[in-house]
Amino acid sequence: MTTYRKMLFLLQLLVIVLAIISQEHEATAVYVRPYTSVVAAVNKHTDAFKPVYSVQIMTSYVNMQYWPSSFLIDIDAPFTWYDCIMQWNIYPGSCPSNKLCRGPASCEEFECTQVRASYSYKNPSCSPETNSSTLPGWGFCTCPVNVVSPITGSCDQALLNYDDFTVITSDGRHPFESYLGAYPFAACAPSSSLASFPANVSGVMAFSSSIYAYPAFFEPLKNTLALCIPSKPSDTGVLFIGSGPYYLLPQSNVNVRSYLSYTPLLKHKDSFGYFIKVNSIVIKKKSINAPANTTTKLSTMDPYTTLRTDIYNGVVRRFSMVTKRLRPAKPVAPFSLCFRTITSGLEVPDIDFSLPDGKKWTVTTTNSIKQVTKDVACLAFVDGGARSEPAIVIGTFQFEDNFLEFNLENSTFGFSSSLLSKQTSCANFNFTLTPSPY
Ligand SMILES: *[C@@H]1O[C@H](CO)[C@@H](O)[C@H](O)[C@H]1NC(C)=O
Ligand SMILES: *[C@@H]1O[C@H](CO)[C@@H](O)[C@H](O)[C@H]1NC(C)=O
Ligand SMILES: *[C@@H]1O[C@H](CO)[C@@H](O)[C@H](O)[C@H]1NC(C)=O
Ligand SMILES: *[C@@H]1O[C@H](CO)[C@@H](O)[C@H](O)[C@H]1NC(C)=O
Ligand SMILES: *[C@@H]1O[C@H](CO)[C@@H](O)[C@H](O)[C@H]1NC(C)=O
Repeated sequence: MTTYRKMLFLLQLLVIVLAIISQEHEATAVYVRPYTSVVAAVNKHTDAFKPVYSVQIMTSYVNMQYWPSSFLIDIDAPFTWYDCIMQWNIYPGSCPSNKLCRGPASCEEFECTQVRASYSYKNPSCSPETNSSTLPGWGFCTCPVNVVSPITGSCDQALLNYDDFTVITSDGRHPFESYLGAYPFAACAPSSSLASFPANVSGVMAFSSSIYAYPAFFEPLKNTLALCIPSKPSDTGVLFIGSGPYYLLPQSNVNVRSYLSYTPLLKHKDSFGYFIKVNSIVIKKKSINAPANTTTKLSTMDPYTTLRTDIYNGVVRRFSMVTKRLRPAKPVAPFSLCFRTITSGLEVPDIDFSLPDGKKWTVTTTNSIKQVTKDVACLAFVDGGARSEPAIVIGTFQFEDNFLEFNLENSTFGFSSSLLSKQTSCANFNFTLTPSPY
């Protein structure tokens, strides 16, 4: 084993021992873990060809300080990958100062086969992985894995590594001056595969249901992901791993969980992503029915809700009927229903996703209408084509300033609808560091 592997092994052992100790304490109901979640800042980027959102995670420790990198939030990705360099023999000074270096996983490793065999990045544009690559002087085969850019859709080969990501612990109210590390497998991709990414975003962090996604490495936190994405690049949203409580200012004593409605998360073949059932889309009491058994995908990489043509046409027809009093404008692609907004902001009827058990996810004006130019605003839903599968994909414009919880322990999806109606927003987490209570 290299020194790096040994260190990693010892760290993992320590974590296991600590976990056993803490479990024992919990069993006797004495020990209370002082944190309930880990927390990270979320940013919106508008400098790629579609709006995307990133999360800041600590990737290095230099000069007695943790340094964050930004990763795209991908709730579909099977594992994390980013711009890093593979080195089997990492020693002080071996890594270029503006780069991150990681230790390689070998193709003999069980996880290498598992990552490749799972429905990971299966894509017609990917060439098959081989075991033929190695690192000079290492003597083992490395583990190439395919990665598909969520921005361009192009495929590249990355190398599986032993990784190290650190996050800030929290009680849901404040970040603590105390950190928690996770050691997942991830992959080092060539810088060229990130060419179309926003500035300063160095890779893709997997938040899917895959066992190699980041949340799976925080077992005591119940494999729950909470996501609150901001509507403006200048705002900072928040991501939690942990099942709450969660607090947003100015309501310092309201657990945001109390705003959530829950619906079951569905399994979908060949995907680690998140799916729910939508029975119909309701606009001013009239429903546009989704065909029987339509599963709906939740996507952090689709900027707008995308509907199969038959459903899209029904929604647009109904929406234009209930907005007849507004002045139409020439459509601006990719949208087909636009309005002039010379005088003031528009106010349009709600669009409700009607879910099983009478639950509904309400999309109000801020999440249904996008201001595209100074005086034109459009219905921010797009036509996915006659055969688009899944028939409904709910995208990020509809997520902004909504609090979402992906609870893998109980296979539920919690959603708040717009937080603006609760006089708060995703930009309202108090990120001021507070001393750790432990
Ligand atoms: C790579 O090597 C591993 C371990 O020997 C083996 O299980 C796997 O099938 C090989 N994969 C390929 C694509 O050759
Ligand atoms: C990228 O990072 C550099 C250096 O930290 C900073 O000066 C620049 O403003 C950042 N660019 C964006 C678009 O955030
Ligand atoms: C829809 O789901 C129900 C219950 O799971 C099943 O009985 C039915 O065959 C399905 N219909 C279609 C068209 O797949
Ligand atoms: C899952 O559901 C059980 C029973 O309702 C509850 O006690 C538990 O806290 C839930 N877990 C999470 C992570 O929400
Ligand atoms: C944010 O947290 C800090 C540290 O606990 C506190 O001093 C400050 O008052 C909080 N800000 C607001 C607006 O409540």
